[in-house]
Amino acid sequence: MLHVAVVGSGPSGCYTAQSLVQRDPGVLVDVLDRLPCPYGLVRYGVAPDHEKIKSLQNNLRTVLEDERVRFLGGVQVGPRGVPVARLRELYHAVVYCVGAATDRRLGIPGEDLRGSWSATEFVSWYSAHPDAVADGFVLGARTAVVIGVGNVAVDVTRMLARGAAELSPTDMPESALASLASSQVSRIHMVGRRGPSVARFTTKELRELGTLPDTQVTVNPVELEMDPDYVDPSALPAAQRRNVEVLRGWATAPAPSGRHRIRLRFFLRPVELLADGDRVCGVRLERTRPDGRGGLVGTGRYEEIEAQLVLRSVGYRGVALDGLPFDPRRGTVPHVAGRVVREGVAAPGEYVAGWIKRGPTGVIGTNRPCAKETVTSLLEDAPALLRRAVPADPLAALRAEGVRPVEWSGWQAIERAEAELGASLGRGVVKLPDWESLLTAAQGGARD
Ligand SMILES: Cc1cc2nc3c(=O)[nH]c(=O)nc-3n(C[C@H](O)[C@H](O)[C@H](O)COP(=O)(O)OP(=O)(O)OC[C@H]3O[C@@H](n4cnc5c(N)ncnc54)[C@H](O)[C@@H]3O)c2cc1C
Ligand SMILES: NC(=O)c1ccc[n+]([C@@H]2O[C@H](COP(=O)([O-])OP(=O)(O)OC[C@H]3O[C@@H](n4cnc5c(N)ncnc54)[C@H](OP(=O)(O)O)[C@@H]3O)[C@@H](O)[C@H]2O)c1
Repeated sequence: MLHVAVVGSGPSGCYTAQSLVQRDPGVLVDVLDRLPCPYGLVRYGVAPDHEKIKSLQNNLRTVLEDERVRFLGGVQVGPRGVPVARLRELYHAVVYCVGAATDRRLGIPGEDLRGSWSATEFVSWYSAHPDAVADGFVLGARTAVVIGVGNVAVDVTRMLARGAAELSPTDMPESALASLASSQVSRIHMVGRRGPSVARFTTKELRELGTLPDTQVTVNPVELEMDPDYVDPSALPAAQRRNVEVLRGWATAPAPSGRHRIRLRFFLRPVELLADGDRVCGVRLERTRPDGRGGLVGTGRYEEIEAQLVLRSVGYRGVALDGLPFDPRRGTVPHVAGRVVREGVAAPGEYVAGWIKRGPTGVIGTNRPCAKETVTSLLEDAPALLRRAVPADPLAALRAEGVRPVEWSGWQAIERAEAELGASLGRGVVKLPDWESLLTAAQGGARD
């Protein structure tokens, strides 16, 4: 049998495992994840109020429940865990599907002031990621600025504008629910550095902002009209044209007022976060204009927006894994058709898929063809890979070295504990928010 380790149980890891077992009856797959819970950003990124997308976890579950696939949670690969070189000895092939764990930086003064957070931190907090920093995001804030106009920016804007009644049925942890339910944030400015026709959000997500209860969405028609492709969208791809139509609707029809006010701004690039002591109190922005080639130029004119909360939503970023090559400029592992490139050579035996391969863009489904391409390369290499002897059961070798994975029964025990917690609170499933409660729940499963 061909023993393959897939590192990461997000969409790319699950689609890699699925493609392997579907295409080769002689393959056994261990899916390792540093977290005791599977599904990566589907569990810890997709917004809690998007239940339909979250339910994709059920599709990924069927992969991890396949009889030739084992989920090994709580296993960190790299420093303070199983070294990359050791994993390579234990398996015929290793596929790294570790995603993009951190945020891109703005590189402007004031970025680290209190009250300035990356969207990554905010998302991790409301998603109950066990590494999330303590709460306090909305404490004392009345106005928020969200920097960036991608789908994550739309997610965090929407979460700030949702009320307790809408958040309570979600699986959001109790502390985040209580904090957002009592939030005084009523004005949210979402700011793009370029024009509306090149904004990265998708129309469904954009349109949803206009359907939020008790929320008024406004745009500045003058800013919209600075974009030639807004004025004449005929040359735009259909997706961008639909965005323009939604924005045009908001520009022409008076929006009903509401407790929350979301204001979409364009052609403003942040140059500094302003300080009141060690806390953020506003954002200084430079007016930009299109350069005629899809980019922007500064105009030397500035404006300031008051804010006690700043969420920097300018993209995610891959993290180097000790022992694997890394391209720091792109934040990805260099590869050819999924084969990791070491010293200029695409070496059989090590592969990548998902965000660590392509960079942090694309929806869940984008990872499926990406994983397929990688699996095609791996299966082409399989005859050569099988010539190397590996332990009959890599898990036994890992256990002998002190690794104690959370297996599928442990994860199922976490799911039961989350259902029980929700029932005790009069809610649906409620996520356990920290390492201790997750590992305690998982141990319950090990005893079953
Ligand atoms: C906030 C947010 C919301 C999103 N919402 C949507 C949405 O609504 N719809 C949609 O279609 N797409 C959405 N996306 C995009 C989608 O989540 C990604 O396309 C997808 O998750 C990328 O998959 P991945 O497997 O490459 O990475 P991830 O999903 O990040 O999975 C990586 C996994 O690797 C594990 N890992 C990392 N390092 C190690 C290590 N050293 N050892 C062991 N394990 C490790 C992590 O714990 C994680 O489980 C969203 C993205 C974000 C950031
Ligand atoms: N519901 C969904 O389907 C959903 C939800 C969430 C995420 N996702 C997906 O997940 C992926 C990641 O989303 P994302 O929103 O993190 O990234 P993204 O789509 O790449 O958007 C990043 C945003 O940050 C801006 N930006 C980057 N650097 C900046 C800077 N220095 N100053 C100001 N603005 C800057 C970008 O503007 P420029 O364009 O000018 O660079 C862009 O508006 C995307 O593919 C997204 O579609 C999907």
